[in-house]
Amino acid sequence: MPGIGGGLEKPAGNFVEQPPCCTAAAMNAYFTPAKAAQVRNMRIMDAAHPGAIDEAAEILRAGGLVAFPTETVYGLGADACNPLAVARIFEVKRRPEFDPIIVHVAHPAAAAEYGDVAGELARQLVERFWPGPLTLVVRKTERVPSIVTAGLNTVAIRMPAHPAALALIRTAGRAVAAPSANLFGYVSPTEAAHVAEQLGREVDLILDGGRCAVGIESTVLSLAGPAPQILRAGGVTKEEIEQVIGRVEFGTAAPAAPESPGQLKRHYATRTPLSIEEEEAVRADHRPGEKVGLLAFAAPPDPTKYAAVEVLSGSGNLREAAANLFAALRRLDSLGLDRLVARPVPARGLGLAIMDRLRRCAAGSCQEDQRDQDGRYVAGL
Ligand code: TXA
Ligand code: MG
Repeated sequence: MPGIGGGLEKPAGNFVEQPPCCTAAAMNAYFTPAKAAQVRNMRIMDAAHPGAIDEAAEILRAGGLVAFPTETVYGLGADACNPLAVARIFEVKRRPEFDPIIVHVAHPAAAAEYGDVAGELARQLVERFWPGPLTLVVRKTERVPSIVTAGLNTVAIRMPAHPAALALIRTAGRAVAAPSANLFGYVSPTEAAHVAEQLGREVDLILDGGRCAVGIESTVLSLAGPAPQILRAGGVTKEEIEQVIGRVEFGTAAPAAPESPGQLKRHYATRTPLSIEEEEAVRADHRPGEKVGLLAFAAPPDPTKYAAVEVLSGSGNLREAAANLFAALRRLDSLGLDRLVARPVPARGLGLAIMDRLRRCAAGSCQEDQRDQDGRYVAGL
């Protein structure tokens, strides 16, 4: 098993041709997952391939990192009870240490080993939404190493719905700590290729389970305070939660001490500056030669004004739009355009989570000073 506990070793004589040094678009076309794996000797396995889950589980048990599919986004997983393995997640993501990580379980009963999910609200929410895109923040048990919770006395727990994620956790026989498998601050991955592009060299295995059906991260709901609070909008809507436990509010943690770093103002950012503009307000008078990409909810009336257009949902369906959001942002970001314009989506249901991601992307994508010399987004470090 190569690379566990350190980077992957490059086997001698296994190098194929060098990637082309040109535009981001050409690089992306070149780096199909198979090509990238060949060039960098990274490992991607189809999750349905016989033996893939066993191998991934073995890597986790040995303290390695496995990127795996969930129904929301791809996760970068490590054994939740192995602090060294979890430390490597922070390292690989370039993630600030104050940022706590979600513990993934394969069964509601397993959650009780890591957090206090015995209360009535937790019980009702688990029954209704697990497996699925709802993360519960509750008081943690002794079992959870403090590196997982960044020193907090609470832990975020969820049971994902993707069969490969469940099989992996079950086979590993332990909970899996996993943030989204992207560099800190960048757009979350919804396909194995997205993980391969950013982190392929640094994880021990990528399990390919296809496109993420939900496409946006889980809703983070805190049950640790006096009243339930949504710390991050996500795959389960506020309305859906309220149908089960009554009124909930969105949390408002101070930016200097974010309770949930998904709340950081700059997050989910593209490298290309992005602004959110209503149809009427879109600057028709682009600077001469300026290349603008449009992220539209439905088909735009005049697509020819843009160098590239991504439509999130031709039929105006918010669920479809959420599923397409991050992949569409990545495609636009890979084209080397001057700027991106996103149209607002209706601010209801999943539209709230989509708008939340777009606003943070807009706030973050303009912070050139937050990048390292490779153009990687390093906000918060
Ligand atoms: O859908 C998802 O939630 C994906 C998949 C992989 O499960 N994971 C994900 O993880 O989005 P991450 O690390 O990118 O986001 C987790 C969010 C962060 O905003 C983090 O601050 C918050 O959950 N969180 C984790 N533990 C917390 C805690 N104890 N208290 C408050 N917020 C917490
Ligand atoms: Mg994330």
